[in-house]
Amino acid sequence: MKLSVMELFDLSGRITVITGGGGELCGTMAEALAGLGVKVAILDINLDQARHRERVIRAAGGTARAFRCDLLNAAELQERLQEITALWEAPDILINGAGGNDPRGSTTKEFLELADVDAPDIKGFLDLEFEGFQSVFNVNFMGTFLPTQVFARGMLRKKKGTVLNISSVSALTPLTKVGAYSAAKAAVSSFTHWLAVHLAPVGIRVNAIAPGFFMTEQLKFLHIDPQSGDLTLRAREVVAHTPMGRYGEPEELLGTVVWLLSDASRFVTGSVVVVDGGFSSLSI
Ligand SMILES: NC(=O)c1ccc[n+]([C@@H]2O[C@H](COP(=O)([O-])OP(=O)(O)OC[C@H]3O[C@@H](n4cnc5c(N)ncnc54)[C@H](O)[C@@H]3O)[C@@H](O)[C@H]2O)c1
Repeated sequence: MKLSVMELFDLSGRITVITGGGGELCGTMAEALAGLGVKVAILDINLDQARHRERVIRAAGGTARAFRCDLLNAAELQERLQEITALWEAPDILINGAGGNDPRGSTTKEFLELADVDAPDIKGFLDLEFEGFQSVFNVNFMGTFLPTQVFARGMLRKKKGTVLNISSVSALTPLTKVGAYSAAKAAVSSFTHWLAVHLAPVGIRVNAIAPGFFMTEQLKFLHIDPQSGDLTLRAREVVAHTPMGRYGEPEELLGTVVWLLSDASRFVTGSVVVVDGGFSSLSI
C-alpha cells in the first residue's frame, strides 16, 4: 500500500531508547517523540533528571519509563535491554544522545605561545591530563559505540531499526579549546558512516545530527561569565559566526530528528545532518 507523505513520518507505536534523555536536548526529543505516540525509554546516569522527563511525558498522556544507566557499563546496558523488552518489546529506535564536554578535556587558550608553557594559570596542550581527555572521549564516543552494540542486537531480531547519533559541528572543523570533545565527535561522525555501511544489509539505518550551538548547561562554562552572567567573548564570537545571528532552540532539532527516525528517510543512511543556523558554512 502506498503511504502518503505525512504517513511516512508516522512514528506511533515505535519503541525508542534515548540515552542522555534526562538532559536538555534529548529530554526535549523524548517529550516530542512521546507526543507522537512513541514509547520512550529514557536512559541517563542522572536518574532524577530522567524521572523528571518521565513525569512530564506521563502527565501529558504519553508513555515513558526512566532508567538509571551508565552507558559505559555493558552489563548495565544488557539489563536495560532486557527490562525494556519485557516491558514493551525490543526497541527499534536508538538515539545516542548522552555526551558533553568537561573542562578537563579543554585548554584555557585558543593559541599556545612560548611564554605560556610554564605559566601556572594557563592550560595548554602539554598540560591536558590523560584521564580528563579520556573521560570526554569515552562519554561521547564509547558512550555511542557501546549502547549501539547492545541495542542493535534487539533490532537484528526484528530485522529493522534506526540509530541516530549526536555529533556536532565541532566534528567538521574542531572548535578551539575543546580538543577532546572535537576529536570524540569526529569519531562519532566517522563511526556513523562506517556502521551505516556495515548494517545496511540487515535493515538497520544509522544517521547522525550535528548541532551547532544551543545554550544548554554544558556550554555555559565557556559561554557565560560566572561573575557577571553575561555572554563571554567566545559566545559573542559564536553568535557573530552564525549567519542566523543566534543560538539554536532545542525544538529546532525536532524536525530533523523525526525525519531521520521515520520512514520519511527510509533510503537515508550514513548521513550526518548539520543543524547550525549556517555556522559551518560561513568562511570569512
Ligand atoms: N548543547 C549544544 O549546543 C550541543 C551542540 C552539539 C552537540 N551537542 C550534543 O548533544 C547531546 C546532548 O547535549 P545537551 O546539551 O542536551 O547536554 P546535557 O548535559 O543536558 O545532557 C547530556 C545527558 O547525558 C547524561 N550522561 C552523561 N554521561 C552519561 C553516562 N556515562 N551514562 C548515562 N548518561 C550520561 C547526563 O546525565 C545528561 O543528562 C550531547 O551529545 C552533546 O554533546 C550539544
